[in-house]
Amino acid sequence: MDLQKYLDEKRQLVEQSMADLVPMANDLHPDLVRHIESMRYSLFAGGKRVRPILCIASCEAVAGDARVVLPVAVALECIHTYSLIHDDLPAMDDDELRRGKPTNHILYGEAGAILAGDGLLTMAFELLSSNLLSTIPADKRLKIINIIATGVGSLGMVGGQALDIACEGKDIDITTLRQIHSRKTGALITASVQSGAVIGGADPKQLADLTTYGEKIGLAFQIVDDLLNVEGTTEQLGKAAGSDADRCKATYPAIFGIEKTKLMAEETIAEALAALDTFAERGAPLRELATYIISRNK
Ligand code: IPE
Ligand code: IPE
Ligand code: MG
Ligand code: MG
Repeated sequence: MDLQKYLDEKRQLVEQSMADLVPMANDLHPDLVRHIESMRYSLFAGGKRVRPILCIASCEAVAGDARVVLPVAVALECIHTYSLIHDDLPAMDDDELRRGKPTNHILYGEAGAILAGDGLLTMAFELLSSNLLSTIPADKRLKIINIIATGVGSLGMVGGQALDIACEGKDIDITTLRQIHSRKTGALITASVQSGAVIGGADPKQLADLTTYGEKIGLAFQIVDDLLNVEGTTEQLGKAAGSDADRCKATYPAIFGIEKTKLMAEETIAEALAALDTFAERGAPLRELATYIISRNK
C-alpha cells in the first residue's frame, strides 16, 4: 500500500473534522474570542496527526467504519495538543518553538497557554460525551471515555510527565526510563488504538493484540523522539533540537548511546508487528504506521 497517500487522506479527513468540530467563535466577548483563538492556534499549527490516524486505522483493522470514529479522533488530537502546550511551558520544558511556530505561551502568555490547554482537554471530553457519537452504543461510548481518561491521567500521560520532570538530571534505571516513556507518550497512543478498536467492534483477543501493538509503538515513538532530538535539526523537527541534553533529560540515547537505542527501537517495532499477526490484509495500515514511526524524520 501507498503509506504517504494513506496518511495524506486520513490527515485531511481529520483536519476537516477538526475545523467542523472546533469552530471559531466570533460573537463572544473579545477576550473569550482570543481564548478560543489560542486553542485553535496550536491545534491548527500543523502536526502529523498520528494519534487520530491510529484510531481510524485501528477501527478499520477490525472492519469498523472510519467515519464513525472521527469525533473521537478529533478529541484525541485535542488532548495531544493540550499536552504539547503544557509541555512547552517555562515551568516544564521551556520551549519556544513547536510545529515550526512560536509556542502557545510565547503568543498568548503563560496564563493564556495554561487555559488553552485546559480548554482543549475539557473539549475532548465534551466531544466524547456528545450526541456526535449517538450512533455508537452507550456501553462502548462509556468504555472509550474510560480508556482515554485513564490513558491521559495520573497513571498515564500526566503521570509520565510528572516522572519526566522529576527525573531531570538524575541517574535512573532502564525500568524507570521505560516507564516514563510508556506513560508520557505510550499511554495516549495506546488509548488511541484501543478506542478505535472498541468502536470498530473488536473482540477481546483483537483488543488485547491491538493493546500490545499500541504499547509497543507508543514506547518506540518516544524512543525515536529522543533520537531525533539528538540527530535532527530544529528546522527539520519544527521544535528545538538538542533540548533534551540541555535540560539533562533522561533519554534512551543519553543512557544507551545512539546505536543501541536504534536497535532497541527496532526490536520494539518488531514486537508491535508480531502483535498484528492475525490481522491479515486489514492490518496493513497499522503495519505501515509502525514502520513509519521508526523511520520518520520529524
Ligand atoms: C510530540 O508528538 C510529542 C511526543 C509525545 C513525542 P508528535 O511527534 O506526534 O508531534 P506532532 O503532533 O506531530 O506535532
Ligand atoms: C512530550 O515529551 C510528551 C508529552 C507532551 C505528553 P517530550 O517533551 O519529550 O516531547 P517534545 O520533544 O517536547 O515534543
Ligand atoms: Mg517534556
Ligand atoms: Mg518537550
